[in-house]
Amino acid sequence: PAVGVIVVAAGSGQRLGHGIPKARVLCGGRTLLEHALDAVAASGVAVAVVAVLPPDDPVLTAVVARAAGAARDGAGPVISRVDGGATRVASVRAGLSALPSDVEIVLVHDAARALTPPAVFRRVAEAVHGGAPAVIPVVAVADTIKIVRSGTVESTPDRSGLRAVQTPQGFAASALRSAHAGVAAANPGITDDAMLMEALGVPVQVVDGDPLAFKVTTPLDLAVAEAVIALRGD
Ligand code: CTP
Ligand code: MG
Repeated sequence: PAVGVIVVAAGSGQRLGHGIPKARVLCGGRTLLEHALDAVAASGVAVAVVAVLPPDDPVLTAVVARAAGAARDGAGPVISRVDGGATRVASVRAGLSALPSDVEIVLVHDAARALTPPAVFRRVAEAVHGGAPAVIPVVAVADTIKIVRSGTVESTPDRSGLRAVQTPQGFAASALRSAHAGVAAANPGITDDAMLMEALGVPVQVVDGDPLAFKVTTPLDLAVAEAVIALRGD
């Protein structure tokens, strides 16, 4: 079955605080979006890739056009762009409507997880190929996590049962399309697509994520990403 990848890159990057959309921020001299699109291309999983961008962003539009040209020359996926929305859910929905309709598996990926190893894309895609309707990459949680209410600890969940969730998240396209048509509209608190599946009672399978799939959220994360790129020497 054909795999499509949605790379959501329409966020404003408030917490990074550079005053420009996060996907446009440079890391090792290249935009976070370029790093993310490189990883998708290197994974070889996709026939189609849609980058979801902030409206009217000529820099990121040019990044996508360059990646599309390189993919065309190298028999890679068809790469296109679409305008994002005010929330991540709205941006994913925009990406979904821009994917070719014959795509049967959809991977949704954060551009902010710019250094995600290609192997993570392959693990997620393989699990969906294997029949799982929803698949997420996860890693163990290092810190003890507390449930806090009004400044006081209410409880401490058993850490061995906790996982931090990364992207790409993979779905049967039909399941993701119907979730976005229904549940998403009614639930503004939804932060990832797996939550939509959970709300519908669809089982969500986990596969191994990777520490390098961390999300560039704060200035510290960007410094870590710069160091990783310096170490790998590109
Ligand atoms: N995203 C998006 N459209 C939005 C909001 C977020 O496409 N309206 C994307 C971001 O570009 C990012 C991913 O979703 O790749 C994860 O979001 P996050 O890390 O929260 O990025 P921002 O929303 O840009 O950052 P912040 O929350 O700090 O403003
Ligand atoms: Mg955000």
